[in-house]
Amino acid sequence: MNSFPNYLNQVIANRRSTKPRNFNGGKIADSLVWQILENANWAPTHALTQPWRFQVFTDDGKNKLANFQAEVYKKITPEANFKPEKYERMQTNILKSSHVIVICLKRQLSEKILEIEEIEAVACSVQNMALTASAYGICSFWGSGGITYRQELKDFLGLGEKDLCLGYLYLGYSDRPKTSSPRDLIKTKVEWISR
Ligand SMILES: Cc1cc2nc3c(=O)[nH]c(=O)nc-3n(C[C@H](O)[C@H](O)[C@H](O)COP(=O)(O)O)c2cc1C
Repeated sequence: MNSFPNYLNQVIANRRSTKPRNFNGGKIADSLVWQILENANWAPTHALTQPWRFQVFTDDGKNKLANFQAEVYKKITPEANFKPEKYERMQTNILKSSHVIVICLKRQLSEKILEIEEIEAVACSVQNMALTASAYGICSFWGSGGITYRQELKDFLGLGEKDLCLGYLYLGYSDRPKTSSPRDLIKTKVEWISR
């Protein structure tokens, strides 16, 4: 019999990152994306600052983000290093997704809580989203390449000076979802001190 802990173990073990280039263009119901966001909101957070903020790009909204980031790439890349395929990928990764959740961090005004703890809280919220997506058979991919940490993106998103963008969570369906990913044994990463 499958118990709740067994389900949870399976969801965690089965979550994999599937690259947006392997998405098939299928549209996720907005209601499911709202459930994914709802679960993000239950992440742990020191002093309940709840620093996670999300901007969801879907439908025509995806063109805005896709065109913007491709143009920034063109602007900031010296001609000798410019790769047309990268310019194109900066658009297609977004356009092949059903929804792109831009992951942001709203910095607490008082800055009492350390920034690293706020980043940790946002990362927990992203894992909640990735696990929820996986449970619904939705593929996800956390990407932090491209223009993620550029000021141009912060301006485009309307973020404050101390706020951060931590990347995009691409969501979509795939006929070729990634199913495996290697991990070193947990025993190689744990020290167990019992006396
Ligand atoms: C904060 C963060 C940023 C990431 N950024 C990228 C990225 O820019 N490009 C990339 O190929 N993968 C990125 N990944 C995904 C990892 O490559 C992926 O999680 C890893 O290969 C393990 O695969 P799995 O998620 O299927 O277990 C990122 C993951 C995290 C947690």
